[in-house]
Amino acid sequence: MGARLVVLISGNGSNLQALIDAIRYKALDAEIVGVVSNRKDAFGLERAQKAGIPTRYHPLKSFTESGRSRSDYDAALAELVRAWQPDFVVLAGWMHILSAAFIDEFPYRIVNLHPALPGQFPGAHAVDDALAAYKEGRIRTTGVMVHLVPDEEVDAGPVLESEEVVIYATDTADSLRKRMQQVEHGVLVRALRRLIEGDE
Ligand code: GRF
Repeated sequence: MGARLVVLISGNGSNLQALIDAIRYKALDAEIVGVVSNRKDAFGLERAQKAGIPTRYHPLKSFTESGRSRSDYDAALAELVRAWQPDFVVLAGWMHILSAAFIDEFPYRIVNLHPALPGQFPGAHAVDDALAAYKEGRIRTTGVMVHLVPDEEVDAGPVLESEEVVIYATDTADSLRKRMQQVEHGVLVRALRRLIEGDE
């Protein structure tokens, strides 16, 4: 049944869908054994349920409202994910920065998708930052990368796959984001294929 994947999402889940489709069409030797969202209304949960994948809702607020820490949240998330015995954990639009309480449970097994090229625009506003840099004439292209998450560094770590995306003068944040999302789907599948098949 291939590599066991757990996917963490926070939103639409188009990258999750790309993995579901790649597996269905035998383009990826893996099985998604679980999906976790920190948001109840994430459409990605519906995508998972439609594909018969077990889902869990893991909201941060139930921890903060009861005086528990981010680390408690991350430790509980790790326990929940570990129960599915994943080979790899895929952060596909997961909006929380994860602490060592989670990361250390899955050493070199966590993969993150980030809408920027290696070393560029870390954090939650990468697309807007790229567009601003383009308008200042500092860059002509941006891109997408998938990297391993060995530690608490945000959007850093060994890069598995990346692909450039040209920025057009007519681009808005929305048009650029849409074009980048199309590229993300292919980069994510290729990154996981490389990781699973171990081809360097
Ligand atoms: C992706 O575009 C990713 O770059 C960003 O969040 C988005 C998630 O999209 N971090 P989806 O939920 O996979 O459609």
